[in-house]
Amino acid sequence: MSETDGLKIPQHIAIIMDGNGRWAKKRHKPRTYGHAKGAKVLEQTLEDCDDLGVKYLTVYAFSTENWARPYEEIKVIMDLFRQYLINSVEKCMKNNVRCMVIGERSRLSPDIIDAINNLEDKTRDNTGITFIVAINYGSRDEIMRGISGIASDVKNGILSPEDITEGTLAGHLDTAGIPDPDLMIRTSGEQRLSNFLLWQSAYAELYERFCNRHGMTGCLLDDPSEETTPSLQHIAAAFPAFCGRETAFLRYLQSECPAVREKVFLPVAPADAPLRID
Ligand code: IPE
Ligand code: IPE
Ligand code: MG
Repeated sequence: MSETDGLKIPQHIAIIMDGNGRWAKKRHKPRTYGHAKGAKVLEQTLEDCDDLGVKYLTVYAFSTENWARPYEEIKVIMDLFRQYLINSVEKCMKNNVRCMVIGERSRLSPDIIDAINNLEDKTRDNTGITFIVAINYGSRDEIMRGISGIASDVKNGILSPEDITEGTLAGHLDTAGIPDPDLMIRTSGEQRLSNFLLWQSAYAELYERFCNRHGMTGCLLDDPSEETTPSLQHIAAAFPAFCGRETAFLRYLQSECPAVREKVFLPVAPADAPLRID
């Protein structure tokens, strides 16, 4: 966590990007329209987190359980990944963003794996925000793979069982070397972790009212034209809950952070807004 004007900024925010399908359904559009909008909002969210001084942003894009969805929906999501990964190279290089992908890769198409490797290689030395995308990710799967790795090390004489510590397992997870998230946001108002960063989130503050009425893409919703993506106001909504210091946070946004100042429209959501999407 960094400290600005006495205000704590989360070092690492993790977001479960949920509610895309319901958002689209409410607009009488196919679920896949919601996924496309979600991908667009994500670009803005990354930029906003960077502006706010967040060092790591991890987003849950596709879970190990999401393969159970209809084939057509999975196909659209995979196509969105393809485009996103390819387009991200130039954007990340321009904005000094380091990009990483976590999750199990063997089930992904070879061209998607190539695009992931290319994006990671090209952006490896960037020194700005680290952007981590979880694709075919599940915590249980990640922990099982980590345990297998440790078992192999023991079998090969690299490691003694008595030397296994929490750090040993942490070092065998996909997130090895990345600090644990200190703020976990779930859009859509659901309150589950859905197999996301179970080990790493042991002490994360949870915030599920973010975009409580509309889900991730719902960030767009207060703009009837749906042209702009004011995701920042929703990130901003989570921060005071994290710091417990709303006034100081707003003062910080208004005075200390010019890049952000232009974009914040408050209040974010009425206190009596429903907590869940119907
Ligand atoms: C999250 O939105 C995106 C993915 C899981 C890929 P959903 O698709 O889960 O949308 P809802 O929760 O059904 O509205
Ligand atoms: C969690 O959302 C997974 C991602 C956001 C990628 P889901 O919509 O898949 O989770 P459940 O089914 O509500 O638990
Ligand atoms: Mg969902």
